[in-house]
Amino acid sequence: MWAIGPSVSADRRRHLSVNVASKTRHMRELSYSPGRMKLSVIGTGYVGLVAAAAFAEHGNDVVCADIDETKIAALRAGEIPIYEPGLEQLVRRNSEAGRLRFTTDNAEAAAHGQVIFMAVGTPTASADGAPDLSFLFKAVKQVAANIRDYTVFVNKSTVPVGTAERVARIVGEQTSERFAVVSNPEFLKEGSAVDDFMKPDRVIIGTQDDEARDVMRRLYKSFFRTTERIMFMDARSAEITKYACNAYLATRVSFINDVANLCDAAGADVEHVRRGMGSDARIGNKFLFPGAGYGGSCFPKDTRALIRTAREYGLSMSLVASAERINEAQKLVLIRKLRRHLGADLSQCTVALWGLAFKPNTDDVREAPALVVAKALLEDGAKLRVTDPEAMANFRDSLRADTDQLTVCDDPYTAAEGADALLLMTEWRQYRNPDFERLRRIMRQPALFDGRNQWDRAQVEGLGFHYEGIGR
Ligand SMILES: NC(=O)c1ccc[n+]([C@@H]2O[C@H](COP(=O)([O-])OP(=O)(O)OC[C@H]3O[C@@H](n4cnc5c(N)ncnc54)[C@H](O)[C@@H]3O)[C@@H](O)[C@H]2O)c1
Repeated sequence: MWAIGPSVSADRRRHLSVNVASKTRHMRELSYSPGRMKLSVIGTGYVGLVAAAAFAEHGNDVVCADIDETKIAALRAGEIPIYEPGLEQLVRRNSEAGRLRFTTDNAEAAAHGQVIFMAVGTPTASADGAPDLSFLFKAVKQVAANIRDYTVFVNKSTVPVGTAERVARIVGEQTSERFAVVSNPEFLKEGSAVDDFMKPDRVIIGTQDDEARDVMRRLYKSFFRTTERIMFMDARSAEITKYACNAYLATRVSFINDVANLCDAAGADVEHVRRGMGSDARIGNKFLFPGAGYGGSCFPKDTRALIRTAREYGLSMSLVASAERINEAQKLVLIRKLRRHLGADLSQCTVALWGLAFKPNTDDVREAPALVVAKALLEDGAKLRVTDPEAMANFRDSLRADTDQLTVCDDPYTAAEGADALLLMTEWRQYRNPDFERLRRIMRQPALFDGRNQWDRAQVEGLGFHYEGIGR
């Protein structure tokens, strides 16, 4: 038997001596000790890049792959293609230390990683909400054909129940090497992704393969300083856990929006109601903020996907379906309020939008309420003046409206100049306490539509503004 390092347990020694067929394989498995694994991450988006940088920060040797050549070229040049607080420093530090490298070649990533994370996109594919798994299956095929040894495939992408089994079938068709497939859904939030990844509430590992479980525990162990919160389960349960979390959070948001609309109609203030509810320890404050609807790359697509999966099993998940319906209507709540105030014909109006990203601290505009509102206003013939600290380029690309009705402004006050109404769509910190007197001077009509309930009604009405929030 070859010498095995002190970090390998007695159980593991026994396991290795039984299972390891070659010295090469044996030497490779020895590097499963924490902080020194060879990892690959396929897909260098919000999840893949954060995961790769975080694993490198924990001492692992990480290769990150993406088919997007522009993205990889930028990363190699030290530029971060997305806005995510803290990510740039993390990527730079680990790239300089040689622990984090980028490639466009999935075969190279396959040959490198003992553990290979699949973090490609799974966007909505069809009107019925089914996610498009073609990126995942294509990437798995490319990678599986090039593994050189026992490899743990980890699904980090959000995928429907049963996908780990489908991935295992694809891998099995491509290679005769030993492998395991693990479901390890990701719970990071854009805007605080680095922090969330570094200090996870819990890590969910779905597998029934003992060796893979051991590898995953070693990999994540160093993320927990006091209490290890790694939960093991079967892959199917892990897959459903991810969707259930997002559907539950989305349902909370839609619930409070439903209550907010009742408050509007009944002359109550949802901010009081929200606080009254949230102080109940059984309910809590989080994800109970009324607003102009949720967006982003996860909640909308994941609720739709869960409903679609349920349908395959003859179930309706009508609660989640209602949450989704309420949200679609809520995205237009400010347009309804605006029409009531300015009149049905908005073609002579100029409307300013503050905030285009689906939430603060990100440049992501996927399914952002601001996109829905902007499209509706452009269709109505209104002139739009929009601004966002980080998301303007993505907004322009996603809106795909080549029209002189739209002016994109670097500065929020420039956006508000000559406007008949200002809509707050995203609660960026810099919009929370603006110079209202200045706004009053530069706007054509003093009307504020606060889609995130950030402003003080008494204060702004005192300055002569017409003010409408959500449920207030
Ligand atoms: N964004 C989030 O906040 C978040 C949070 C938790 C889970 N998720 C899930 O994680 C997954 C990834 O999400 P994201 O927001 O990071 O997506 P993203 O669109 O930002 O990134 C996906 C990347 O995968 C790359 N890609 C596609 N096919 C590839 C291939 N064959 N080989 C290599 N790279 C390929 C794309 O070029 C892209 O850069 C999704 O399933 C999503 O639902 C996202």
